[in-house]
Amino acid sequence: MKGIILAGGKATRLYPLTQVISKQLLPVYNKPMIYYPLTTLMQAGIREILIISTPHDLPLYEELLGNGSNIGIDLQYKVQPEPKGLAEAFLIGESFIGNDSCSLILGDNLFFGSRFKESTKRAAKNNQGASIFAYHVDKPHAYGVVEFDNENRALSIVEKPEKPRSNYAVTGLYFYDNDVIEIAKSIQPSGRGEMEITDVNSIYLENKNLKVFTLGTGTAWLDTGTHDSLIEASSFVRTIENRQGIAIGSPEIAAFENKWIEVEQIKENFSKYPSNHRYTESILKSLNT
Ligand code: TTP
Repeated sequence: MKGIILAGGKATRLYPLTQVISKQLLPVYNKPMIYYPLTTLMQAGIREILIISTPHDLPLYEELLGNGSNIGIDLQYKVQPEPKGLAEAFLIGESFIGNDSCSLILGDNLFFGSRFKESTKRAAKNNQGASIFAYHVDKPHAYGVVEFDNENRALSIVEKPEKPRSNYAVTGLYFYDNDVIEIAKSIQPSGRGEMEITDVNSIYLENKNLKVFTLGTGTAWLDTGTHDSLIEASSFVRTIENRQGIAIGSPEIAAFENKWIEVEQIKENFSKYPSNHRYTESILKSLNT
């Protein structure tokens, strides 16, 4: 399975913070935002990852993350000239995906939870149909919303509904078989001019090929698209890291746990940070080194 991180967009809700810099390079506590979705894909066991961003910002991601060899992965980069919607990722990524299955994660989504990690590993191994994750939220209007029947089967997914039929929002992590490329090619831009991921998911649903996993209370899902949610995500990471002495959103730990790199490589990566840097400290501590 391949993975794509969508790290473009306009991020207008975060202006003026994002007037000259990509949202996914902003800090979430002690790391650039993109570290969190990158880690999520790596925890799912995905090693070949394409980062898509704007012509202005893509070189910055390349400078930050390079070819991924120092975290045991293969990173590639492609431009999205205009933010024409999430489903365009599969057109931009067509040659990268090849004949493989593919996961997509939004660059501003932060997930945390051990059960969640296991679910993503399972979803990444499944090469048939699509798997998405739904999360109970207080205000579902801003998201794709899933409606369930009495037996917990998904009935519909509606993008940003005025009257949501449930409180279950579709999160920004999706797993698809290779059909996603042709399905993405078949959809038309919506009223707001975007190729909607909800349309892709609805086609899988119509074809009875969509699994919707609901994430329970043991999992945190935060997006970081507004000033408040950005600071809430930072506080969340800070609280857990300081209290539990673990690192959230660490590609180094994900690579180490997958046996893709050794501790020596982690130490080499960190040699460019000051030794008292909290990120370095918490990671080495959680590895007991
Ligand atoms: P959104 O939050 O929907 O859009 P945005 O980031 O441009 O923000 P705003 O609404 O404040 O203007 O995007 C969700 C994620 O997907 C985010 O990480 C940016 C990314 N994205 C792209 O990379 N390309 C796109 O065409 C779109 C629509 C989003």
